[in-house]
Amino acid sequence: MREEIYQLSFLMPMPTLTQEKTVSKKDIFGLLVNLPNYYFEDKKHKTILYKENCFDVLPEFPENSIDMIFADPPYFLSNGGFTCQSGKKVSVNKGRWDVSKGLEETYIFTQRWLRECQRVLAPNGTIWVSGTSHIIYIVGSAMQNLGYKILNDIAWFKVNPPPNLSCRYFTHSTETILWAAKNKESKHYFNYNLMKKINNNKQMLSLWSIKAPGQLEKIYGKHPTQKPLELLNRIILASTRHNDIVLDPFSGSGTTGLAALKEGRQFIGIELEEEYLKVSIKRIKDEQRSLLLRR
Ligand SMILES: C[S@@+](CC[C@H](N)C(=O)[O-])C[C@H]1O[C@@H](n2cnc3c(N)ncnc32)[C@H](O)[C@@H]1O
Repeated sequence: MREEIYQLSFLMPMPTLTQEKTVSKKDIFGLLVNLPNYYFEDKKHKTILYKENCFDVLPEFPENSIDMIFADPPYFLSNGGFTCQSGKKVSVNKGRWDVSKGLEETYIFTQRWLRECQRVLAPNGTIWVSGTSHIIYIVGSAMQNLGYKILNDIAWFKVNPPPNLSCRYFTHSTETILWAAKNKESKHYFNYNLMKKINNNKQMLSLWSIKAPGQLEKIYGKHPTQKPLELLNRIILASTRHNDIVLDPFSGSGTTGLAALKEGRQFIGIELEEEYLKVSIKRIKDEQRSLLLRR
């Protein structure tokens, strides 16, 4: 295991960093567990979930402490439209958290959480952010303004997309996932060899064909924008090492946490809605049971 030393300034609201401490990386998760208000924790597998607004929790985290962040933020596309689900016309509304408050507020919201994520990322850490055209250009622009270094824009091809009902557009079948390093000086980690190996020994392209999650991934309940486990597995394997600390500030049904647990990474998830946290916990407990059986 890597023994990296981080400079920590914690328990003070951003941006006032007053208390400086040096702890070894393996202790950081222990420090977070002792923060109040966590909703679920598993000390053995180092998994923790907060039922909070990420804007309230992130400032409590030590700077430079997180190895990788995956963020699937609200896309703000719940504005009364329709889509097709199992052959039926259904409302596209995902929930209150996904209602657009206009371009300017969306930019401010995006820049705010991206700034906090940049502060907590380790110097060589990376962040992945998913989005459709509703949000991804704002994310990219905010990242550039904050000084992130964009490494790749992955085109996730959803293979089995629902048809376009209006027949006035091409069928939407992709999402973009931006992968970025903390800043221009970062020496980011990329598991090139493994990515090549799982791609039949050919360099892995930035075009990923992965199906949307099926029923098996939803047996503990549904999340309207759940990401496939295969997508998160790939992201975690590509950009983290064993025991690294992974953070998801919009963790929904806990897909990132599940992938982190499967691959032996530590995980911190933040989610506003209890209903989704309950689904996450069931999924995580199920994986814990399988891990025990496999030993
Ligand atoms: C796009 S979904 C994430 C879905 C997740 N990737 C999954 O696989 O289940 C975004 C989630 O962020 C949550 N959310 C929205 N605003 C938030 C905030 N300010 N802090 C924490 N969670 C928030 C929503 O409740 C929603 O579950």
